[in-house]
Amino acid sequence: MSGYQGPMRVLSGIQPSGGMHLGNYLGAIRKFVDLQHQYDCHFCVVDMHAITVWQDPAKLREQTFHIAASYLAAGVDPKLAAIFHQSAVHAHAELAWIFNCVARLGWVERMTQFKDKAGKDKERASVGLYTYPVLQAADILVYKATHVPVGEDQKQHLELSRDIAGKFNHDYKVESFFPLPEPLIKGPGARIMSLRDGSAKMSKSDPSENACVFLSDDADVIAKKIKKAKTDPESLPSEEAGLEGRAEAANLVGIYAALSGKTNADVLTEFGGQGFGVFKPALADLVVEKIAPIGSELRRLEGDPQYLQQVLTDGAERAAAVADPIVKEVKEIVGFLV
Ligand code: AMP
Ligand code: TRP
Repeated sequence: MSGYQGPMRVLSGIQPSGGMHLGNYLGAIRKFVDLQHQYDCHFCVVDMHAITVWQDPAKLREQTFHIAASYLAAGVDPKLAAIFHQSAVHAHAELAWIFNCVARLGWVERMTQFKDKAGKDKERASVGLYTYPVLQAADILVYKATHVPVGEDQKQHLELSRDIAGKFNHDYKVESFFPLPEPLIKGPGARIMSLRDGSAKMSKSDPSENACVFLSDDADVIAKKIKKAKTDPESLPSEEAGLEGRAEAANLVGIYAALSGKTNADVLTEFGGQGFGVFKPALADLVVEKIAPIGSELRRLEGDPQYLQQVLTDGAERAAAVADPIVKEVKEIVGFLV
């Protein structure tokens, strides 16, 4: 980590822009649950990122509670990790402005997520959507976080965070002031695909309800979605090479492997030669076993907004206690009167 001597610290965030799905769970939250025992962890609900595209205010509030409740329902312990909403910790916005002046236009222009989200009519995209990855770098570095658990789609944003940290350290001659944060991407479940289209990422914004298993889905809905998942007419191969060119089959095998803790090869040893008539019910049972209990706990917690508010307020206080002194130091380094 280029000579950085500070403590190991974890930060990650999820946008309150839609329901939490199996991709978010396997790519991100499940890692949060494991990491909280080893590291000083901060998990935020990134409401400031969410408004880079239009959000209905009442829905935004509701979704913010939904993401916080999902963290808790999946097993993040608010005593171990600070759970909070980004807009409650002012230091994120302050550092983001300074980073807007450190990051180069050319770096931000290369970001593929902006291109995907802005679509063809990029003149009409918000300025916030453009500078989104700079705010993300501030989220991470305002805690001097050293490790960032995310899905594969965030790889490029993490590279930008490292570039910003490195340029700040270099320009202000404060070698190793910021760590170069390491993404924690690897592992099964880093890229879960839509149940309707094996070439598209499972995403909150997918217009088809059947593309995602949501954490809030009950057992019947989960089973129906898995049974309806797109497949091909062939049976499953006995070896991984046989999944090549069969994106939907590969995705379902990958989900089975990620949830059962087995490798794809193990799953194919068990199910090779079987058709989807056998594999889908087995997968549906497994997803129900692992996800439905999270869904019931999620619904219980969503019925207790007072408790959720208390977790968020307490988390924000703890997060600010780490972030505020770091931003103060940054302001001194930059030459602001503090
Ligand atoms: P988002 O829903 O875009 O706010 O993403 C929140 C977290 O979930 C990030 O760490 C993403 O990388 C991760 N994630 C989102 N979609 C997927 C997916 N389909 N597969 C794996 N990880 C995902
Ligand atoms: N951009 C991330 C996503 O869409 C969300 C995010 C915002 C994030 N700030 C972050 C992830 C900081 C990790 C660390 O998934």
